[in-house]
Order: sequence, then structure tokens, then C-alpha cells
Amino acid sequence: MKVAVTGATGTVGKALVTALVGRGDQVVVLTRDPAGAKRKLGAGVEAFAWTHPKLEPAPSEALEGCDGVIHLLGEPVAQRWREEVKHEIHSSRVLGTRNLIEGLKLCDRRPPVLVAQSATGWYGACDERPLDETAPPADDFLAQVVVDWEQEAAGAEALGMRVVLARTGVVLTGDGGALKTMLPPFKAGIGGPVAGGEQYVPWISLADEVAALIFLLDNDSVTGPVNLTAPNPATNGELSKALGKVLKRPAVAPVPEFAIKLLYGEMAQIVVTGANVLPKRLQELGFGFTHPELEPALRAALGK
Ligand SMILES: NC(=O)c1ccc[n+]([C@@H]2O[C@H](COP(=O)([O-])OP(=O)(O)OC[C@H]3O[C@@H](n4cnc5c(N)ncnc54)[C@H](OP(=O)(O)O)[C@@H]3O)[C@@H](O)[C@H]2O)c1
Repeated sequence: MKVAVTGATGTVGKALVTALVGRGDQVVVLTRDPAGAKRKLGAGVEAFAWTHPKLEPAPSEALEGCDGVIHLLGEPVAQRWREEVKHEIHSSRVLGTRNLIEGLKLCDRRPPVLVAQSATGWYGACDERPLDETAPPADDFLAQVVVDWEQEAAGAEALGMRVVLARTGVVLTGDGGALKTMLPPFKAGIGGPVAGGEQYVPWISLADEVAALIFLLDNDSVTGPVNLTAPNPATNGELSKALGKVLKRPAVAPVPEFAIKLLYGEMAQIVVTGANVLPKRLQELGFGFTHPELEPALRAALGK
């Protein structure tokens, strides 16, 4: 298969490209920095410049004749949400996706499928009730980003493409994202449950995230939203406990909500709240998780 990937140089993208290349696919990446992408991903990957995803259509010559597109790009969410950062988190996804579709429109041999990254931020801050793909969106900032992002991606349906919306939870890897941020206090023995620890963390291992994206790319019958989360969601308290066990460090120091808010500002929302998101559609489709349980997923993420 020939697969085009955006956001390929990121935490998820690098692992995805490695997996695609590993199974013999030809990979084309669209990136703001082709030379940097080749350094990160290897010379075997074809890299096309898409310098300003918010301002210009994706290069159609990169997409022409591909068998599928996996669209991951977006400004990192896990940073202090100053107003201009919030704007970039939203516009990089919404305009970036709109311009991907503009590039796809220009293709003579258009890829038949778009697997568009999305996020469990759709569900917002919820109680312990299990949620599947039919649950409505929340109305906080992140949920609005996800709603607008998915709406843009759905525009590819009008081009006759199959569109899958990969609502991804917290991807567990030591190489980036939430887990990497959590590691220093835990390694120092001062980690622990945050804001009471009752809130759910809809986690997924990096291996399962990548395998699920490829499964959704390959599976011709799937369209619409699909939750990419492990079948056994954990609370923040359970995650802290498992992380302490894997790192062989105490994980009992509770971290109060105000401290997290002081540290991260409004972005603290993604740590102090959560949702009990289940991968109903992936399970119905028969996707096999490599890491259905948390502790082995953490061990794999941290090489322990
Ligand atoms: N990691 C998670 O736990 C998680 C959970 C849910 C959803 N997601 C979503 O999945 C996607 C990939 O996640 P990730 O963790 O791999 O992200 P990442 O490491 O932050 O990488 C994202 C990639 O997007 C491009 N990018 C970054 N900022 C951009 C901007 N302002 N405008 C345009 N392009 C930009 C970059 O590629 P180039 O420099 O090559 O252009 C970058 O490598 C993101 O959209 C993220 O929100 C991730």
C-alpha cells in the first residue's frame, strides 16, 4: 500500500511510520520540514513540504495515487494554554484539515480513505459512567476543538472517500505525551493521585494506537467515530498506583487540584477531569489489543 501521513514526525506518527514501513508499505509524509522528517523517519520515506498547513492546500502531488491518508497533525495540546496557544491548537487542526481536503480535491487519483485523528476530548469531563461513540460532545474548549476538527474531516465524504474519526485517548509512551510529563515526580518518589484520583484516564498503549490506526485504514467497512482506548480504563489513582509499582517508587503523595492548576493553568483541565471511554466499536470489529491491561502497557511504554 502507499500511505500518506501528516504529523508523521510526532510521537504517534514516528511509531506509525515505522509500523507501516515494517509491513512493506510505501510511506509519503507531508511535513513543515522535509529534511527534518527524513532525518527522523529514515531516507526510505518520501517527504513533501507542506509549509503552512493553515494557509495553503496540502500538496496534491504527495496525495496523488495513495491508497489512504492518515492525518495526525496538530499543535501540541499539553502546554500552557495562553490565548494564542489555544488559537493555534484549534486552527492548526481545523484549517489544517480543511486544507488537507482542498489538496485531496485536486487529485486525479484520490486516495479512497481518510483516517483522521481525533480525541476523547470530545466527551469532556464526565463521571464514572462508561461512554461509547454514541455519547454527545461536551461543551468545553477541547471538546469544541474536536467537534470542529471532526466536522472538517467529514468533508472528505463529499469527495467519495471513506472517513474514519479516530477518537484517541491518552497514548502511553515514555517518548512523549502525558506519561513523559508524569515521570519526573514519580521517579523522584513524589508522584501520586491528582485532584483526588477518581477521574478516569482513557488510556491506550502506543502499540495499540498504531495498530488500531492501521486496522481502521485497512478495514473497508469502517466509517465514522471509533474510540481508540484500552478496554480497561483506569482512574487517575489507579494509573498513579500502577506507575509507582512499575517504577518501584512510592506513589502515594496526593497532588491537590490547585497545585496542578497553578502549574498548568487552564490546561490542567485535561489532568483533573476525565471520562470513562470504552472502545465499543473497535471491540465489535474484532480488534485485538496487545495491551488491554494497564500495568503491562506501562511496562512496555517504559521498557520495564
Ligand atoms: N499523544 C496523545 O496522547 C494523543 C491523544 C489524543 C490525540 N492525540 C492527537 O494525535 C495527533 C498526534 O499526536 P502526537 O502526540 O504524535 O503529536 P505531536 O508529537 O505533538 O506531533 C504532532 C505533529 O504535528 C505537526 N505539528 C505540530 N504543531 C503544528 C502546528 N502548529 N501546525 C501544523 N502542524 C503541526 C508536527 O509535524 P511536522 O513538524 O512534521 O509538520 C508534529 O510532529 C495530534 O493531533 C494529537 O492531538 C494525541
